[in-house]
Amino acid sequence: MKKTDDIVEAAPTPEEEKLFTSLRASDWKEFHGQENVKESLQIAIKAATKRREALEHILLYGPPGLGKTTLAHLIGKELGVNVRVTSGPALERAGDLASILTNLEPKDILFIDEIHRLNKVVEETIYPAMEEYALDIVIGKGPAAHTLRLDLPPFTIIGATTRIGLLSAPLRDRFGVVARLSFYQPKELEQILQRAATKLKVKLDANAREELSKRSRGTPRIALRLLKRVRDVAQVEGTGDITEAILVRSLSLLDVDVMGLDSSDRRLLATIIEKFAGGPVGIETVAAALSEDIGTLEEVLEPYLMQIGFLKRTPRGRIVTPHGYKHLGKTLSI
Ligand SMILES: Nc1ncnc2c1ncn2[C@@H]1O[C@H](COP(=O)(O)OP(=O)(O)OP(=O)(O)O)[C@@H](O)[C@H]1O
Ligand SMILES: [Mg+2]
Repeated sequence: MKKTDDIVEAAPTPEEEKLFTSLRASDWKEFHGQENVKESLQIAIKAATKRREALEHILLYGPPGLGKTTLAHLIGKELGVNVRVTSGPALERAGDLASILTNLEPKDILFIDEIHRLNKVVEETIYPAMEEYALDIVIGKGPAAHTLRLDLPPFTIIGATTRIGLLSAPLRDRFGVVARLSFYQPKELEQILQRAATKLKVKLDANAREELSKRSRGTPRIALRLLKRVRDVAQVEGTGDITEAILVRSLSLLDVDVMGLDSSDRRLLATIIEKFAGGPVGIETVAAALSEDIGTLEEVLEPYLMQIGFLKRTPRGRIVTPHGYKHLGKTLSI
C-alpha cells in the first residue's frame, strides 16, 4: 500500500498544483540553476530569432520535478508564442496530433510531456511533421487507400521525458537540442526556496533554509512541497516563522531524514539489504518484493539514490553501496 503523504513519490494534489503554478518561475531570472541547459536554450532561441524561423525541436529530460514544464513555458514566453500542452498518452490517434498541429499558429510550441509514451502510429506521423512541417494522412482503407499530404505552419515541439532510454532513436534524432536536467545544488535550492518564501510571505530563517535545501533531494518540486508542509507546522505550533527547530521537527513528522530520504527511499534500500543481501538483484525482483511499479523505482526513487552514491546499477542488478548501508545503520555482510 502506498502512503498518501509520501513526499517523494506522490503526484501533486490539486492544492499543491495550484501552489506550484503560482510559484512557477515567470522569467529567466527566477529560474535558478541548470546553467548549461539555459545556455544551450538561449543559443537556440537567439539563432531562431535571427533567422526568423521557428525554434528547433527541443527534448528536455531528467528526473521529475526539476523544471522541464517550467522551461517550456519560459521559452514560449521569451519567443512570444503560444504553448500548447499535451502528453504522450493523451495523443491516442494520429488524428489527435493532426488536429492540434493544424490549429497551431506559425512558430507556436507544442509541449509534449511524457513523450516516451507516444504510440507507434502517432510517432510515425510525427516524423514528417517535425522534419518537413507536413502531415501524411491516410484516407480510406484497403486498395483504395491513399495518402494526402497536409502542410503545416512551422512550429516547435518541446518534448519532456523522465525516461530518455525509452525513446526510439529515430524520434530522439529529430530533436535539434537534447538537454539533460540534473539535480540542483543546495545553494540553488536555497535561492528557489527564498523566492517562494517571499512570495508566500513566510519568514524562513537562514539556517532553516540551508537545512531544507539539503533535504530536498536536489529537486525544486520537493523543496517547495516541504516548504508548504513546514509552513503549516510553523503556523499551528509556532509563530508562523520557519526556524531551524520547527523545520527539524516538521521533517521528522514527515519522516524525511537528514539526507532528505523518505520512507519509500529507505524501504527500497532496506529491502535490497535485508531480502537480497545487499544485491546484486534485478529491478523486477525488487519491484515485486516492494509491490512497487518498476517505472516508479527507476524514474523517481533510483536517480537520487544513485546520485548520492547509496545505490549502484550494475549489469547483474542493483547493489546497495557501503554508504547506503551506513546511512541505514546496517552492517555490511561480507
Ligand atoms: N530552476 C528553477 N527555479 C525555480 N523554480 C523551479 C525551478 N525548477 C523547477 N521549479 C519549480 O518546481 C516545480 C516543479 O517544476 P516543473 O513542474 O517544471 O518540473 P518537471 O520537470 O516538469 O516535472 P515532471 O517531470 O514531474 O513533469 C514548479 O513549481 C517550478 O516552478
Ligand atoms: Mg512537468
